[in-house]
Amino acid sequence: MSERVALVTGGTGGIGTAICRRLADLGHKVATNYRNEDKAREWQGKMRSDGYDIALVKGDVSSPEGGAAIVAEVERQVGPVDILVNNAGITRDTTFHKMRPEQWSEVINTNLNSVYNMTRPVIEGMRQRQWGRVIQISSINGQKGQYGQANYAAAKAGMHGFTISLAQENARFGITVNTVSPGYIGTDMVMAVPEEVRAKIVAQIPTGRLGLPDEIAYAVAFFIPDEAAWITGANLSANGGQYMGW
Ligand code: CAA
Repeated sequence: MSERVALVTGGTGGIGTAICRRLADLGHKVATNYRNEDKAREWQGKMRSDGYDIALVKGDVSSPEGGAAIVAEVERQVGPVDILVNNAGITRDTTFHKMRPEQWSEVINTNLNSVYNMTRPVIEGMRQRQWGRVIQISSINGQKGQYGQANYAAAKAGMHGFTISLAQENARFGITVNTVSPGYIGTDMVMAVPEEVRAKIVAQIPTGRLGLPDEIAYAVAFFIPDEAAWITGANLSANGGQYMGW
């Protein structure tokens, strides 16, 4: 497979780390952004000791200026972005009748507006080079809704609406645009759900366990090779059978 430049947002998190490693294993040059300097440097040290050289760029995906600055710096350090994985995301879980404006806007800015902020600066280059992959990391909860996640589910459902529109606009330019919708994966984000609530959720997963970050990285990698050129606008569920809607 040809070597490409991949930008994975939120690469220092649980799922993001697994995606960075898998794309590097496949021979791509990988970059990610970070916000917390100490956490990022510690992460980079661990990655290096495991043999991974991932470019790290400081920046926030939640504003257009932040997105543009991240892309410019990745392009300077590594090269034009061929593969964009919109993975960065946060939760601010609470029932809607108690939701404060900032709990709504932080989630929408980081999980949904980031998709505009990051994709807008890379799409023109992909169109010119006639090759690109844009992959949204959405969520099972964007497909089925979730008690306590009106903000998150709205953002995650919105990501797939973006996918299926961008896929149509760019199919003739060798660019595919797809969504991966993970179920509950054993990351810090899911472990932050109170234990008794989490136990009830796990009880609803037919595989009887949380997913592994690598199981999401595998789904992401599926969309990347040239052989996947016919697959665009898809939403690939990777959720242990918890939700099997169309
Ligand atoms: N359906 C129906 N009722 C529910 C419910 C559900 N799923 N969950 C809770 N309730 C009810 C409770 O039974 C309770 O009712 P009573 O007062 O009559 O006993 C009431 O709602 C309040 O529940 P809590 O005590 O849990 O309320 P809270 O305000 O303390 O917390 C919450 C609410 C923050 C939403 C908490 O329940 C929670 O964290 N839920 C999990 C949310 C979740 O799944 N987040 C996913 C995070 S991981 C992620 O997002 C990754 C991904 O993509 C999958």
